[in-house]
Amino acid sequence: MKKLALGLAAAMSLAFAGGANAQAYPTKPVTMIVPFAAGGPTDIIARIVGDHMSKTLGQQIVIENVAGAGGTTGITRALTAAPDGYTIAMGHLGTFSAAPATYPGLKYDPFAGMQAIGLAGGTPILIVARKTLEAPDLKAFVAAVKANPDKFNEAHAGLGSVSWTTCTLLKGQLGVPKLNAVAYRGTGPALNDLVSGQIDFMCDQIVSVAEQVKAGTIKAYAIASEKRSPALPNVPTTTEAGLPDYQIEAWNGIAAPKGIPKEAVDKLVDALNKALNDEGTQKRLLDLGTVIPTAAERTPDGFAALIKRDAAKLDPALKAAPK
Ligand code: MLT
Repeated sequence: MKKLALGLAAAMSLAFAGGANAQAYPTKPVTMIVPFAAGGPTDIIARIVGDHMSKTLGQQIVIENVAGAGGTTGITRALTAAPDGYTIAMGHLGTFSAAPATYPGLKYDPFAGMQAIGLAGGTPILIVARKTLEAPDLKAFVAAVKANPDKFNEAHAGLGSVSWTTCTLLKGQLGVPKLNAVAYRGTGPALNDLVSGQIDFMCDQIVSVAEQVKAGTIKAYAIASEKRSPALPNVPTTTEAGLPDYQIEAWNGIAAPKGIPKEAVDKLVDALNKALNDEGTQKRLLDLGTVIPTAAERTPDGFAALIKRDAAKLDPALKAAPK
């Protein structure tokens, strides 16, 4: 009888401990892997959104930059981590929608093999160039590139990254698919070389280039969106600038390994929502040109649908692109 009572007590305390732990997620800091170098768009969005999510979660979100292979090294690390909610990733259009068509041996499956959390921000694409490039506007730039493709150097953040993907589409449209390109560990370091004039142009997400465009240290030929950005109202759309067929929307969003506890998913989704509803966080994002996600895009299902939709759109062009 005594044995039975002891056994019951132990079982109850274990059940209680399990319940208490599940309730208490997170009980320690959460690592958010940023699959590119610090200072680039993914890092910027992760730090702004992660700051506020830490407050809601009551635990620090620690950013870890794991760069390489167009972001796929870091995302592989994140999605193959223990599915306990303590390792998550800030990925984007490149790592989740473009990588499957770019890397035949990709070690993660963004469609059926991960837990989408939600979209963190829309990041319009700009065609930017060193300020000393002779072409004064997009039409002149396009004419010069078509006439002398060998004279231009493009920077990108590796095969499958957003910069690579979006400039691959641009080069395809201009009929110069093999133009010289230099791969960086992120567009943060690439931007430094654009400012110092060592490279000619890139296609980058607005959040890391907006300040430099405003300061005049680089020039922006156009934004590849339907509308101008309130953050850079003087930059014309590609339609206004004479290249109406070049339109592409990039974004950043959060995912975790498949199989993390439902409670962790719910808490991360809630923390993301609270961050995106927070006035101060919104202002920091909007000042850099980020588009604040809709309520549907902030949900796991809405984000998963966006990933699939964009992958289907990009698939034919990326499979055919020179690598
Ligand atoms: C970065 O954070 O460096 C970018 O998102 C890289 C890219 O995909 O172009």
